[in-house]
Amino acid sequence: MIVLDGKATSAQIRLEIAEAVKALYSAGKKTPHLCAFLIGNNGASETYVAGKVKACEEVGFRSTLKRFPETISQQELVEEIEKINQDPEIDGLIVQMPLPKHIDELTVTLAIDAKKDVDGFHPTSVGRMALNLPTFLPATPAGVIELLKRYHIPTSGKHCVVIGRSHIVGSPMSILMARNSEPGNCTVTITHSRTTNLKELCLQADIIVAALGKPEFLTADMVKDGAVIIDVGITRVPASDTKSGFRLKGDVKYDEVAPKCSAITPVPGGVGPMTITMLMLNTLKAVELFGK
Ligand code: GUN
Repeated sequence: MIVLDGKATSAQIRLEIAEAVKALYSAGKKTPHLCAFLIGNNGASETYVAGKVKACEEVGFRSTLKRFPETISQQELVEEIEKINQDPEIDGLIVQMPLPKHIDELTVTLAIDAKKDVDGFHPTSVGRMALNLPTFLPATPAGVIELLKRYHIPTSGKHCVVIGRSHIVGSPMSILMARNSEPGNCTVTITHSRTTNLKELCLQADIIVAALGKPEFLTADMVKDGAVIIDVGITRVPASDTKSGFRLKGDVKYDEVAPKCSAITPVPGGVGPMTITMLMLNTLKAVELFGK
């Protein structure tokens, strides 16, 4: 059984990005510059954005964090996005989700120039991904693909079951695993809350991507011997024995599933660390594709 180490893989990719930044500089091109919008003071969003800013420093990017109060109107936010769209200094823009209830996420996503959409959430990016055209891939599914690639996990002709159909993980994951690419070329089954025979489908899977956000949902009786298990879940569960008062739990019951599989991602240290690194890779790509 191989443990797919997202922490080590991510550290390696960040070194590669830092080298690419130096190469851009030597070629007289600009330093990649990511801008992040943080609206309100959601604790988890604060943590995620801080991690993104720190990753920028680590790889040699510039970063700008713009904070806005919870009370900002949708119109004001769209105007702020348009300013960034026009700013040639900024290569990538992310608006950290979730947004306050009075702001529509789709309106905000649509306002971002697709050339700066390093989250890969804009319909132009999603459409280009589906057509297998060069574009920004959403960070979490891209991180899974990169892990499979770097560990040389065979995917062609395999049956991949994706659990969850969210716009940011399950749905793009199913597109990436099915497309004519390496990794890819899987026969994909996408499952969700209305699926009636999930256990039966999972038992037929060579690869399972669990992305439903229910701690320890996938148990050993749902997994065939030798399967590859990708755990995208990261739920904070209360824990009295940790300093923070919580512990991260994946969607997979790791201790009982791991002995059955050929490869598995742990939580923490699997898919999680890859996500921010893939955002860095998208920001680098923005300069390579569109930077002066
Ligand atoms: N909220 C949770 N995940 C993400 C992400 O990948 N990007 C943004 N912008 N917000 C998020």
